[in-house]
Amino acid sequence: ETKILKIDRNNVDYSYLKKAGNLIKMGELVAFPTETVYGLGADGLNEKAAAKIFKAKNRPADNPLILHISENEELIDLVEKVDDKTKYLINNLWPGPLTVILKKSSKIPAIITGGGDTVAVRRPKDELARLFIKECNTPIAAPSANISGRPSPTNASDVYYDMNGRISLILDGGESDIGIESTVIDMSLDKPCILRPGFYTYEYIKEFIPEVCLDDSLVDDSKVPRSPGQKYKHYAPKARMEVYVGDKSISLIKDLAKKESEKGNKVGILVFNDYLDEFSDYYTLSLGNKDRLIEMSHVLFQALRDLDRNSCDIILAQGVEDIGLGKSIMNRMKKSASGNVNYL
Ligand code: TXA
Ligand code: MG
Repeated sequence: ETKILKIDRNNVDYSYLKKAGNLIKMGELVAFPTETVYGLGADGLNEKAAAKIFKAKNRPADNPLILHISENEELIDLVEKVDDKTKYLINNLWPGPLTVILKKSSKIPAIITGGGDTVAVRRPKDELARLFIKECNTPIAAPSANISGRPSPTNASDVYYDMNGRISLILDGGESDIGIESTVIDMSLDKPCILRPGFYTYEYIKEFIPEVCLDDSLVDDSKVPRSPGQKYKHYAPKARMEVYVGDKSISLIKDLAKKESEKGNKVGILVFNDYLDEFSDYYTLSLGNKDRLIEMSHVLFQALRDLDRNSCDIILAQGVEDIGLGKSIMNRMKKSASGNVNYL
């Protein structure tokens, strides 16, 4: 049985953080909230503890983990060297939804890096996350707290659904603000490169590092991603999913929904607020205001999980253009839909 401790952010019960910290020190797994998604935490310098993460998530061993820290200075011991560009980047963007990859120091166990010579590090913005990490007094290895391949969890009950019986404790800090994972940038390369787009967009990172590039796979779908985690099936609901982008998407989704439901399939619909009324015959969830993509990122993963729990056979979803935060969201949607994204 996995325990859930609900934390009141306005009046933090430090005995809960102590409990969580003690479990981490004993080599156990604790899920915790961050501003992006919930993480599945273990002592990042304890090989046996880190190994439990891979087991609990069913995660391939070659997919490296992010180390989470509570202060910028903690980065120094974890990597070979913090170059000036990286310093500038983290001084401006940490704490926040940004993960930097650098050459690892000798302290880092091979299990964290998937055997490679680089390590990913992030200092989250979520205050509870940082209090928890500080209490643990060690870098916290934490992937998203889902079973591998499923949508990342953005609240404690979604973590529980995947992880009950597999981990000791869930710290419940309510819903994650952002709802999609951090931007991952490889600073170990001659030319810094974004491996996973996140809340911090390519355009925004460029303001700090003008020469930053996007991994080939983010520009051309046929290219193999440099980041191991990006090559796996990911963010996938159980239902078949199709995504439609553009002016004609609503009328097409309507036609398809009708056809599918005539075939006897339970149809799940994901559209922006403006169109909810047109789909009252189906199980329909909102993607928020179409002009505020932060609402879409906030709800996307929990909506996919909701559609699964309601046994939808097919999900028909509205997508967005591949720019700014839209690029990060579509990166997830493409994987959720196994590439079935159609531009109309
Ligand atoms: O927002 C986030 O980053 C969340 C929260 C919990 O912090 N964490 C998260 O972790 O998304 P995870 O394990 O689900 O995704 C980490 C991604 C994977 O695609 C992994 O392959 C990549 O980062 N990664 C980690 N270390 C790497 C390395 N040394 N080189 C290349 N890619 C790396
Ligand atoms: Mg993940």
